[in-house]
Amino acid sequence: MSDSVSRRSVLGLVGGAITVAAAATTGAAAPAHAARAAHAAARAGQGPGAGHRVESLVRRLTLDEKTSLLHGATDPKGLGQAGYVPGVPRLGIPPLRLADGPAGVRVAARATALPAPVMLAAAFDPALARRYGRVIGREGRALGQDVLLSPMVNLIRTPYAGRNFETFGEDPLLAADMVSEEIRGIQGEGLIATVKHFALNNQEKDRESVDVRADERTMHETELRGFEAAVAAGTGAFMGAYNKVNGVFACESKALLSDILRERWGFEGWVMTDWFAQHSTVAALAAGLDMEMPDGSYFGSALKKAVRNGSVPEWQIDRSVRRILGVMERFGLLDAHVPARPRRDPEAGRAVALDVAKAGATLLWNVRGALPLEGRAARDIAVVGPTGRHPFVSGGGSAHVIPDRAASPLDAITARAGRGADVTYALGEDLYGKAIPRRALSPGIDAEGQRVAAGKKWTYEGKLTLDEPDEWTLVIHYSGERPTVELDGKELYPKLPGVAEYFSGGLVSTAPDGLNVRRATLKLTRGGHRLRISAKGGDQGQTFRLRRVTRATRAADVAEAARAARGAHSVVLFAYEDATEGQDRTTIALPGHQEALIRAVTAANPRTTVILNTSSATSMPWLRRTAAVLQMYYPGQEGAAATAAVLFGDCDPGGRLTQSFPVDDDHHPMAGNPRRYPGTGGVEEYSEGVHVGYRWYDAEGVRPLFPFGHGLSYTTFAYEGLAVRGAGRHVDVSFTVRNTGRRAGITVAQVYVGPSPDLDLSQAERVLGGYRRVELRAGAWRRVTVRVDRRTLSAWDVKRHDWVLGTGRRTVQVGTSARDLTLSTTTVIKGAGS
Ligand code: BGC
Repeated sequence: MSDSVSRRSVLGLVGGAITVAAAATTGAAAPAHAARAAHAAARAGQGPGAGHRVESLVRRLTLDEKTSLLHGATDPKGLGQAGYVPGVPRLGIPPLRLADGPAGVRVAARATALPAPVMLAAAFDPALARRYGRVIGREGRALGQDVLLSPMVNLIRTPYAGRNFETFGEDPLLAADMVSEEIRGIQGEGLIATVKHFALNNQEKDRESVDVRADERTMHETELRGFEAAVAAGTGAFMGAYNKVNGVFACESKALLSDILRERWGFEGWVMTDWFAQHSTVAALAAGLDMEMPDGSYFGSALKKAVRNGSVPEWQIDRSVRRILGVMERFGLLDAHVPARPRRDPEAGRAVALDVAKAGATLLWNVRGALPLEGRAARDIAVVGPTGRHPFVSGGGSAHVIPDRAASPLDAITARAGRGADVTYALGEDLYGKAIPRRALSPGIDAEGQRVAAGKKWTYEGKLTLDEPDEWTLVIHYSGERPTVELDGKELYPKLPGVAEYFSGGLVSTAPDGLNVRRATLKLTRGGHRLRISAKGGDQGQTFRLRRVTRATRAADVAEAARAARGAHSVVLFAYEDATEGQDRTTIALPGHQEALIRAVTAANPRTTVILNTSSATSMPWLRRTAAVLQMYYPGQEGAAATAAVLFGDCDPGGRLTQSFPVDDDHHPMAGNPRRYPGTGGVEEYSEGVHVGYRWYDAEGVRPLFPFGHGLSYTTFAYEGLAVRGAGRHVDVSFTVRNTGRRAGITVAQVYVGPSPDLDLSQAERVLGGYRRVELRAGAWRRVTVRVDRRTLSAWDVKRHDWVLGTGRRTVQVGTSARDLTLSTTTVIKGAGS
């Protein structure tokens, strides 16, 4: 057995614990009991290696060296990752490289672009989360990284949050299961995981300042469960959130960082800030923060000064150094022979990316078996939409990965349809614009491909003339510093607020050839408009082009799509919504003119399947005009193959919603309640309490468009024979699942538990207690037992500041979504001693 294999298995056994050194030196896997004993000893601070080595280092480090371990710096190697902490070579402490992100390793090099985490969660399959983590763990190590800045386990609370695709969903239990297994996968490969963003960072709007007010019970019963699970799974690091929690910045909240994280949960790793999320030196360190990222504004010279003038006791610095070195030790990074870095395994990454995209593909709507495409429907197809040709791989912001490869869905569909099939394509909605005719500009220039040499400046002053009043979208594509474009003296592309300015890589912000893209839509009057463009070549020189979309080009694109739809037997229309970190959405409607496109195409051909490459919930006023809707999220580099496989029925759509889809912008937990979202006067109240997600729809009697847990199969299933056993520590719920259809397929059986009559609290009508993804051949059946654990049966008692079991007679329901529950019974939960 190779070192790396033994290391992996040992780390896996103890959830990323401390036995690396033993395995690496003996070259054999330590037996499980030995690993556990070593782990326990180290946790208690008595380990022969761990504690001593770290203690001896802490004694030998100078104050300068110690503080250098507590903050980020510039990486001399420049691998393109987000963070770097220099080591202390004189004492054999290596540097740490810290890379994003949630759907693959974000560095300057190529990596496997996995489907977005929300798609992973849709598979309701913790074992798949472990495989997903393993791919990232191995690649992170192979690409020179030591720490992964992921997973993100914040709950989906509002459908508008820009990072909903980066996280798992709205249910605390599912999020906890996903985060634990993903962490085990990542750390099993020797990469340190960082769970983020602790805590209540559930939106991007005002994320750097908003003061989130949530009561203790709400926090423990909803958002905190995933973080607690991450500790139990052995995560090496935590990342603090930007926002405030109950009046205090999360990165300096003693309540979060010390009382809950360390005292209650027993976390022994280190806590870093989110990027530039620190606000103080003394208060942050005292509260329990260990590392500032990505620089040393507060934990650099300011911290040294604070020690020298006595405002920070040196033991607090030692404590943080110990936590960081302790994790490094655990991962073998302080050994004389540090673990060898593996090579990338792109083929393994590709296989997992494909499996996850198929497993998370969620069929929301399917009228009279429109899908899978068969017969003529599979041979005479019009593909419509920008992401039908140009694959939508991953979301923007720090989750963006440079994929190894990414095929076009159009090519995948054409190949799968086979020889003799007729597959046509129409753009339908133009993301990147068309050339501005030379005659519209005077003096006339070619705005299509300007090149400015390094160190040079290029300026144009002229006139843009319209023959009639129109609405134009002016689209600038550029490779260097964004050119300044002024129309009638007004700057068209001002700096975006916050980090949104710096992030690119998403679908809408990057052209197919890699140039950055920005848009400005304006109503223009007939006649001449003063146009001024100025572009700088910078160090490298740059290429840019100015394009446009007008009412006429838009109408022509829609007409062409309708024509293509009319001429084909079936239509596959790709719709997109491009979410990114740093910005929330302002509506759950599809952006641009896609609703009109869908109306035109479905009017031309009702046998239309809409593929959604979207981040989170979408409203669908057009739903009933379509034949099928397939939610593919941001499906990663193998999205095209997975989409084709599901469309043609090569696999069953395996995904189920991990968030409720509201009917529209007026019917969801945040609607009409700005104090709840996005906050007023800098404060936001989690006044829905424990009723996050489907719990709110149940409590308020609001019908969602599609409920939590929803997703269709190509076959049918029957559930029968419900039996419940157990009463105190947990409950075992058994039932039989039968595939009653004519093809093999997947069902995700979901168990929900009702409120306890003995708790005088506002409780959810039902909560997810467990689930099981079941794959069955036609006609096959299986007896399934799902365990509902004690935590799910408990509520947070604010008087005792602890969990209390919800005793008494409680409903147990089983079905295929939070709103489709075919089996129901009750069971009595007994308290300890009764
Ligand atoms: C994000 C983090 C990310 C960090 C480093 C921040 O803006 O909120 O999630 O890990 O940047 O890229």
